[in-house]
Order: sequence, then C-alpha cells, then structure tokens
Amino acid sequence: MKKSKRIKKSNSWKIKQHRDQYFKKSKTLGYRSRASFKLIELNKKYNFIKKNTNLLDLGSYPGGWTQVAAKIITTGKILSMDKKEMSPVKNTKFIKGDIFEKKNKNEIISYFSNKLDVIISDMAADTTGNKSLDSIRTNQLCYEVIVFSKDILKPRGVLVSKLFMGDDFIEVKKLANSLFKKVNFFKPESSRKESKETYLHCEFLKSL
Ligand SMILES: C[S@@+](CC[C@H](N)C(=O)[O-])C[C@H]1O[C@@H](n2cnc3c(N)ncnc32)[C@H](O)[C@@H]1O
Repeated sequence: MKKSKRIKKSNSWKIKQHRDQYFKKSKTLGYRSRASFKLIELNKKYNFIKKNTNLLDLGSYPGGWTQVAAKIITTGKILSMDKKEMSPVKNTKFIKGDIFEKKNKNEIISYFSNKLDVIISDMAADTTGNKSLDSIRTNQLCYEVIVFSKDILKPRGVLVSKLFMGDDFIEVKKLANSLFKKVNFFKPESSRKESKETYLHCEFLKSL
C-alpha cells in the first residue's frame, strides 16, 4: 500500500475510534449526543453554568447540551432553540425556529423577562460538502450570535460559541474583542483533533 494511502487509512481509523469512544460514553450516560462532552469540558474550564443561571441554548438539537445544563441548573431557567424539532428536556423550554427571525428573538426576550446570564451556541450551518464554505457559514452564525448577545446578556454575562479556525476567524475574534473584556478560545478533547472546530468563550460586556 502507498504511504499516502496508509496515512489516510490510519487517520480515518483514528477519527472512527474517537467518534465511537464518545458515542459509547454518551449512550452509557444517557446523553442525546456526543457534543455533550464538549460542554462538560467547557464548563469545567470556565465554570459559567451555576444552579441559578438563566441560560439560552442555541442550535440545541438533539439536546445534549441542554441535558448537561439541566443537570446543573435547578433554580434558573433554560430555553433551547433549533430550526429542527426537538423533544424537550425535563424542566427546560424548547422553541422550534431560526434564531435570527425577529419573532423568535422577541420570544426569547419575553421568556426571560430580564437579561441573561449565559448564551451557549453550538450552531452549525448545514453541510454542503465544501469544508471551507461550511466553515465560513458557521463562523457567520457565530458572528451574528456575538452581535445578538450584546443586547440580551447581562453586563457580567457569558457567551460560548462554536467556530472554525478558518480565514475569517480573525474577523470573529475582532468583533468579540470589541464587545467583551475577556475573550478566550478552547478546543475540548472531545472535539476531533483533525477538525478546525474550536469554541469561543467571552465574558464581561464592555460598556460602549
Ligand atoms: C452540532 S448541532 C448541535 C448539537 C447540540 N449542541 C447537542 O448537544 O445535541 C447544530 C445545530 O444547529 C442548528 N442551527 C443552525 N442554524 C440555526 C439557526 N439559524 N437557528 C437555530 N438553529 C440553527 C442546526 O439545526 C443543528 O441542529
């Protein structure tokens, strides 16, 4: 077998192993998705979900992140939103819809009747097969969530969002730095090494 073919085969084996490992773990622990472990790691690092947190979960389907948040939050409120239908997680509210539609934004604001402590977004654009286009489209979602969050987060609020280390990464970082005092990036172990996926963690809105 040619060397390049051997490398490709071993890489796809590693990807499969990584996927299987977290798939099995999520089944054992009753999580709806492998993505749950990314939020567990993010929260372990930055400790932003507390029992009284009011939290908005964007791009929540099938519900892994909502489940993780619901295990911690007991006195705060959780609202999840996705374009896809999702069976709600106990003690949380789900709204089906596109986050960028005005009526959905208004629903979020009226549900919490106050500004929010935390917004988590694992939103990803529908895949087209063209990885760099997919990355640009997902980063666009991240960009818009940052803009959105400045209106509905409390001054000491936290935003966590998926993004990709593509060419437009720098634009997203610039925007985050212009609105928040603290901006960090973290790639959880449970996110495949080969993937350019990473997570943005922002806190403390600047008073502009
Ligand atoms: C990677 S999945 C989220 C996995 C989820 N965090 C979990 O733990 O199970 C990404 C989701 O983002 C959603 N999404 C993408 N664009 C959206 C938008 N504009 N409004 C709402 N949801 C969106 C997709 O429908 C998809 O279900």
